[in-house]
Amino acid sequence: MPHSKANKLREQILDLTREYYKEQFAEKKPYEPGDRIAYGGRYFDEKEIVSLVDSSLDFWLTSGKYCAQFESGFAEYLGLSFCSLVNSGSSANLLAFMALTSPALGERRIKPGDEVITVACGFPTTIAPIMQYGAVPVFIDVTLPTYNLDVTQLEAALSPRTKAVMAAHTLGNPFDLRAVTAFCEKHSLWLIEDNCDALGSIYEMPEGLRLTGTIGDLGTSSFYPPHHMTMGEGGAVYTNSAQLRRLVESFRDWGRDCYCASGKDDTCRHRFDGQYGQLPSGYDHKYVYSHLGYNMKATEMQAAIGVEQLKKLPSFVEMRRNNWQYLRDQLDCLSGKFVLPEATEYSQPSWFGFLLTIREDAGFGREEIVRELEGKNIQTRMLFAGNLIYHPCFDPYRASGEGYRVIGELKNTDRVMNRTFWIGVYPGMDKTRLDRMAQVITDFVRER
Ligand SMILES: Cc1ncc(COP(=O)(O)O)c(C=O)c1O
Repeated sequence: MPHSKANKLREQILDLTREYYKEQFAEKKPYEPGDRIAYGGRYFDEKEIVSLVDSSLDFWLTSGKYCAQFESGFAEYLGLSFCSLVNSGSSANLLAFMALTSPALGERRIKPGDEVITVACGFPTTIAPIMQYGAVPVFIDVTLPTYNLDVTQLEAALSPRTKAVMAAHTLGNPFDLRAVTAFCEKHSLWLIEDNCDALGSIYEMPEGLRLTGTIGDLGTSSFYPPHHMTMGEGGAVYTNSAQLRRLVESFRDWGRDCYCASGKDDTCRHRFDGQYGQLPSGYDHKYVYSHLGYNMKATEMQAAIGVEQLKKLPSFVEMRRNNWQYLRDQLDCLSGKFVLPEATEYSQPSWFGFLLTIREDAGFGREEIVRELEGKNIQTRMLFAGNLIYHPCFDPYRASGEGYRVIGELKNTDRVMNRTFWIGVYPGMDKTRLDRMAQVITDFVRER
């Protein structure tokens, strides 16, 4: 029977894939002096590759059973009702923001010219959706050593046009969710948690422990390789609100009103008997558009990797925590030269990286130490944009002084732009690599 032959061939292909993994990837070479120490990267075994090949043999390609499995598994991990899988963390931020612009939200919808409180110290695609839409980011400063928004500036940032707070939990360290949620509740503001760098971080709210990304109205994740788990490219938006989920998925799926899964028709059983806009009565609901949307769906191949990574996520989080703590202990003696990172009160971060800010009187600058580390093959990273306002993409806005607002002087944001960098804590690190990083930093400081 051709069908059983196909099954047999599939089994053979998957067995060969396991064998291939063993030959190509399984051997973990011990660290040798001079080897590259990456700040992050994909961490996987044969299960992800087998799952990827399995999905490719289905050849469904667009979203299907693996996407559905991932969405329900990820929502369960988060303890939320809904997760929408998308094609990147940047798309997740764009969709979370655009969902809040929907006319379906009435008076609470974000309109062009409305304001969103955020920080300039972070990743650009937390901000880009706000400005692309014509809303106005209002930048407050960050505080060190937690690198998150300074909640004492929230009230000063408020205006009659404020509609939301949208910010990231910096490198896994949660922002002060107690203060931010209280502020949002007091002023009826939306809260979007950019959780792209913080998957697995825990925060203690007065009512109990919660994962970050699940406390605001919407949370977002990125599955780009250095992140806490990967599917190559990928992201997710999550929420407990059925309405917001429907809006996110409308914007994700071309702006459509219909919510049939890929390849399905007439889920609502009213495909030909509705009246929408000024369309002829009974116009096919599958082609009715309630928003000007995008196509930001993920594919089966991405989700197939994701379902296997998700099973390992709790162990990845633990390894990140252990690696961070190990570095923290090793570098504690250098607190006179560096501002060493600290977890936010009430939090157990799932760290994305280990942040170091060089003190003003350290006797050396960031460029010197970063060059030293990179020269010794240790990969370093800036805290992304540092201060986004100084980037070329802001030239037209800075020149006109329009399109954004700044509260105070953003002194710490500038300090981060000038004096901060970070090194990795991802699961691919081991004690030898962590020791090597600590040693190079310690030697560098001692030699000055
Ligand atoms: C805080 C933050 N938000 C959003 C993103 C964007 O994610 P992606 O690269 O998947 O588009 C990143 C990327 O690293 C990030 O660090």
